[in-house]
Amino acid sequence: MTHDNGGLRWGVIGTGGIAHSFVEALRATPTGRVTAVGSRTRDRADEFADAWDVPERHGSYAELAASPHVDAVYVATPHPWHHPNALTCLNAGKHVLVEKPMAMNALQVAEMTAAARANDRFLMEAMWTRYLPASRLVRDLVADGAIGEVHWVSAEFGVNAPYDPDHRLFNADLGGGALLDLGVYPLALASRYLGELTVVGATRQLSPDRMVDTHTTVLVRGENGGTGVLACASRTTLPNRAVLAGTRGWLEIPQFYAATDVVLHRDGAEPEAFHRPFRANGYEYEAEEVARRVAAGERESPDMPWAESLRLARLTDQIRDVGGLVHSPPTVKAVPLA
Ligand SMILES: NC(=O)c1ccc[n+]([C@@H]2O[C@H](COP(=O)([O-])OP(=O)(O)OC[C@H]3O[C@@H](n4cnc5c(N)ncnc54)[C@H](OP(=O)(O)O)[C@@H]3O)[C@@H](O)[C@H]2O)c1
Repeated sequence: MTHDNGGLRWGVIGTGGIAHSFVEALRATPTGRVTAVGSRTRDRADEFADAWDVPERHGSYAELAASPHVDAVYVATPHPWHHPNALTCLNAGKHVLVEKPMAMNALQVAEMTAAARANDRFLMEAMWTRYLPASRLVRDLVADGAIGEVHWVSAEFGVNAPYDPDHRLFNADLGGGALLDLGVYPLALASRYLGELTVVGATRQLSPDRMVDTHTTVLVRGENGGTGVLACASRTTLPNRAVLAGTRGWLEIPQFYAATDVVLHRDGAEPEAFHRPFRANGYEYEAEEVARRVAAGERESPDMPWAESLRLARLTDQIRDVGGLVHSPPTVKAVPLA
């Protein structure tokens, strides 16, 4: 069955786990369709294309970037390749949605936004959580003053993944570490509600080979004086709950990175529960945002602008500096901690 529903013509780079989820989500939106897939090997491109009924398949990312049948590219490779893959696509005149974290460091993010500007193309970090209906509800409740001025944020994202030094979550050469993979979600939440963050302190546990963090906890202060406690972990299941507390009450968001539920606790009142399920798997909302902005001739999303991606990358750079954790670019071997 074909899913030729019109809209933005998407190309996908990388055929791993999240690429499948994204393509599945696109089936639930009339705003776009996948027209091409690019893989490092033609075999994997064929396999992916056959699974999802994608008409065009390419055995190299550069070939996909050059396709005249693609308007926007979704970059779904491991973090160290976000920067080179996005640059290839932007320089080929494509709009780009790039997986989180946008890149390995702030310098790479700055180069990517410069390329988007120079080529007059749309660019966005795929911080999908911000586009979920439950996240939009939280944003609206806070804007309406439901909890007053936000003074405190706590959020954590931890999964108990089996330790495998070859997996991208634990392998420094593949951009491993809990902070870059999972920690960006609590940081993005705190940044949204506390304003520009300063890292007051950070501490971590390291992987057995001491190459990447498996648990990082960060203390932050927001630009208006609010404070936050944020954590991420790759070898420990955490509650994965977020709390925003303000001068008139607090909001609780269970599983906040993939939120469907929100509980509003106004001071002195009974809690109010809200349920906002996904239409598909949740990635449809970020895809729709890209289509909406591209159709309007815009180059950034106001919910995840370039400056915010740069701020988040500066924060993760700074947090890794506490203790000297080194994350390598793809061509340079990572250096273990002493
Ligand atoms: N938004 C979310 O909820 C979410 C969830 C999971 C992951 N992500 C993000 O998406 C990105 C990819 O994650 P994933 O879980 O999909 O990873 P994955 O399953 O390991 O797949 C990554 C894909 O990238 C390509 N690739 C290019 N260079 C590679 C290399 N040197 N080693 C391995 N693969 C390479 C491969 O495709 P080909 O072999 O076809 O070229 C591979 O299938 C990460 O940056 C991650 O942070 C986001």
